[in-house]
Amino acid sequence: MLNGLIHAHSGLRWVVLALLVAATFMSLLKWRSNAPYTDGGRKLNFFTMISMHVQLLLGLALFFMSDKVNFSQMKDAMYRFFSVEHTTMMLIAIALVTIGHVKSKKATDEAKKHKTIFIFYGIALLLVLLAIPWPFRGWGNGWF
Ligand code: HEM
Repeated sequence: MLNGLIHAHSGLRWVVLALLVAATFMSLLKWRSNAPYTDGGRKLNFFTMISMHVQLLLGLALFFMSDKVNFSQMKDAMYRFFSVEHTTMMLIAIALVTIGHVKSKKATDEAKKHKTIFIFYGIALLLVLLAIPWPFRGWGNGWF
C-alpha cells in the first residue's frame, strides 16, 4: 500500500512538472503577444491545478504513513526535509496555483489573466523544482 502510494506520488511529479512548465510558458507567450484567453489555455491551467490537488491528496496520505516523516529527528537533514521542507514548500506551491487560477478567472481583461497565471504558476514551478527530493540528494529516491 505504502509502496504503491510512493510510486504514484513519484510518477505524478512528471505530469505536474510537464503541465506547470507548459502552463507557465504558454501564459508568458500569450501575455507578451496579447493573445486571447482561449478554452485550450483555460483547460491547461485547470488540469495543472487538478494534478497538483491529486498530488496533495497522495502527499497527505504519505505524510501520515511514511517513516521519513519523523518530528523527533529534526537534526537529520532527510527527516527535516520530508517532515517540514518538502511538505511546506509543496503546500505553498499548491496554494499559489489555486489562488492564481481563481484570480485569473476573476480578471476581466485577457492580458491580466495570462499575467496572473504566469506569475503564480511560475513561482509555484520554482518551488516544486526546489522541493522535489531528486535522486542526487542521496536519500534513495528514484526518478519515477
Ligand atoms: C506538487 C506537489 C508535490 C510533488 C511534485 C511531490 C513530489 C514528491 C516526490 C518526487 C517524492 C519522492 C518519491 C520517491 O521516493 O521516489 C515525494 C515524497 C514524499 N512526499 Fe511529496 N510531492 C508533492 C507534494 C507533497 C505534499 C503536499 C506532501 C504532504 C502533505 C508530500 C509528502 C511527501 C512525503 C511524506 C514523501 C516521502 C514518501 C516516502 O518516501 O516515504 N508531498 N514527493
